[in-house]
Amino acid sequence: MLRLASLVSLLFLTLSQTLVSGSPCVSFDANFNLLALGFGGKDWNVGTQDVWATATTATDITTTGRPPFDGTGTTCYLAQFFNAVYVLNGDAKNPNSIYIYDAGAKSWSTQVTTPGSFSYSSFDAILDHDTNVFYALSTNGSLYNLDMGTMKTANSTAIAWNNVQQPPFPANYKPVMALAQNHIHFLDVGTDGPGNARIFVIHYSYFQPEVQSYPGSKTFPATHGQATSFFNQTGVQQEFAFIPDDFSSTYVINVENNSTRTLPPPTVQDTKSSYVAGITSLVQLDSAGSVFFVPYTPGDDTVNVNAAWSSVKSLVGLVSTANLQSNSTSNSTSGNQTSNSNSTNSTPSDHDGAPSSYPVTSGLVGLAVLFAILGFF
Ligand SMILES: *[C@@H]1O[C@H](CO)[C@@H](O)[C@H](O)[C@H]1NC(C)=O
Ligand SMILES: *[C@@H]1O[C@H](CO)[C@@H](O)[C@H](O)[C@H]1NC(C)=O
Ligand SMILES: *[C@@H]1O[C@H](CO)[C@@H](O)[C@H](O)[C@H]1NC(C)=O
Ligand SMILES: *[C@@H]1O[C@H](CO)[C@@H](O)[C@H](O)[C@H]1NC(C)=O
Ligand SMILES: *[C@@H]1O[C@H](CO)[C@@H](O)[C@H](O)[C@H]1NC(C)=O
Ligand SMILES: *[C@@H]1O[C@H](CO)[C@@H](O)[C@H](O)[C@H]1NC(C)=O
Ligand SMILES: *[C@@H]1O[C@H](CO)[C@@H](O)[C@H](O)[C@H]1NC(C)=O
Ligand SMILES: *[C@@H]1O[C@H](CO)[C@@H](O)[C@H](O)[C@H]1NC(C)=O
Ligand SMILES: *[C@@H]1O[C@H](CO)[C@@H](O)[C@H](O)[C@H]1NC(C)=O
Repeated sequence: MLRLASLVSLLFLTLSQTLVSGSPCVSFDANFNLLALGFGGKDWNVGTQDVWATATTATDITTTGRPPFDGTGTTCYLAQFFNAVYVLNGDAKNPNSIYIYDAGAKSWSTQVTTPGSFSYSSFDAILDHDTNVFYALSTNGSLYNLDMGTMKTANSTAIAWNNVQQPPFPANYKPVMALAQNHIHFLDVGTDGPGNARIFVIHYSYFQPEVQSYPGSKTFPATHGQATSFFNQTGVQQEFAFIPDDFSSTYVINVENNSTRTLPPPTVQDTKSSYVAGITSLVQLDSAGSVFFVPYTPGDDTVNVNAAWSSVKSLVGLVSTANLQSNSTSNSTSGNQTSNSNSTNSTPSDHDGAPSSYPVTSGLVGLAVLFAILGFF
């Protein structure tokens, strides 16, 4: 029985390491240069939106202290006031570490966190623009927060995730979260129907009891999808993009005047894509590691409706390099649990924090759990 257990355990480690090869992510710095982190084993500054469609090279910003980008469900968030990027799940060996990229100083540091009952393995999160506090809906359905203070470099004191409260949502809710005006918007809750959101008011730490309605001819459907907030030059975010899993359109919801406008849906209709928005752009990272963007023109619906998605040209070759290295590293060293630390990344994930699911791997997790239940482990 013990032998079988070790065999199954070895099989599990070998296969899961071969299949889960880590995640790059995309974010912005405070000057709205696009940062592509963990592409081809390196980090890149892709420049501002005007060059994305044409520039063939990006600036290599790889430096010491960076995360290995070998985690599952890696996500990145811009702290606009501090010109810092926070990377969650960037290091499989140190799952409780948040890597901080100080984009001004071009340096990395590592902040230790104490998750408590919060689970890094499955969550959806936003970073509140004004308070610099993360809010995350965790696997068990509770809302948690983590105060990043004024951090652009880590300090030696661990910071703790706090259990804020349980949302008044159905237990099977699959989070779709977006931030606007210091309110967390939760879309596709229960039977609320199209054009509706639930709101958590950050400053008062409470769930507004009423459903928030965004009616209108172009309102967004009641379906699961991805959401991300547009930035503004300095102030609070007022608009967010929603990309439903049905790719019927890309919806932009303005919470000042409650209007919804549309952009074309992404050309690559991959529900495992993640998204980040700048001020005048929406950027997609698909699950093959390809990066696309569509320009957004606040206030000009005619332009928006006719906008086109394009590839971020300078990243195109980097992704295939990542895939190649990742596969050969995994294959040549299968069975060696530490070997993946130098593999590069090819499998991005949901930017909002819910890790992409890998059918085969989750099957194996299921198998492992089954064996655990049966007492094999
Ligand atoms: C999540 O886990 C924490 C810690 O066990 C618990 O306090 C909280 O009530 C749980 N939330 C839900 C919705 O079950
Ligand atoms: C470390 O960061 C935390 C969170 O921002 C802060 O409360 C604490 O004062 C910081 N400690 C030092 C020594 O800077
Ligand atoms: C940006 O902020 C300004 C000033 O608060 C506001 O008037 C404008 O509507 C904002 N733009 C967007 C797209 O949110
Ligand atoms: C937007 O909707 C909220 C809630 O329904 C309402 O209080 C507010 O007046 C609306 N704003 C506008 C400009 O219609
Ligand atoms: C809502 O505000 C946005 C941003 O300022 C603007 O582009 C849009 O035309 C407004 N929509 C309505 C219906 O007032
Ligand atoms: C690497 O693996 C990925 C995912 O399985 C696959 O899409 C890609 O084609 C592979 N690349 C090479 C060079 O084998
Ligand atoms: C890695 O292994 C997989 C599965 O055995 C195989 O399909 C793939 O071609 C291998 N990739 C490389 C680069 O050897
Ligand atoms: C595992 O891989 C690491 C890093 O490549 C290497 O140092 C170590 O010797 C390997 N261990 C085994 C048992 O192959
Ligand atoms: C990782 O592998 C690449 C390519 O083989 C190599 O250039 C690099 O030095 C390695 N990095 C580490 C940390 O081993």
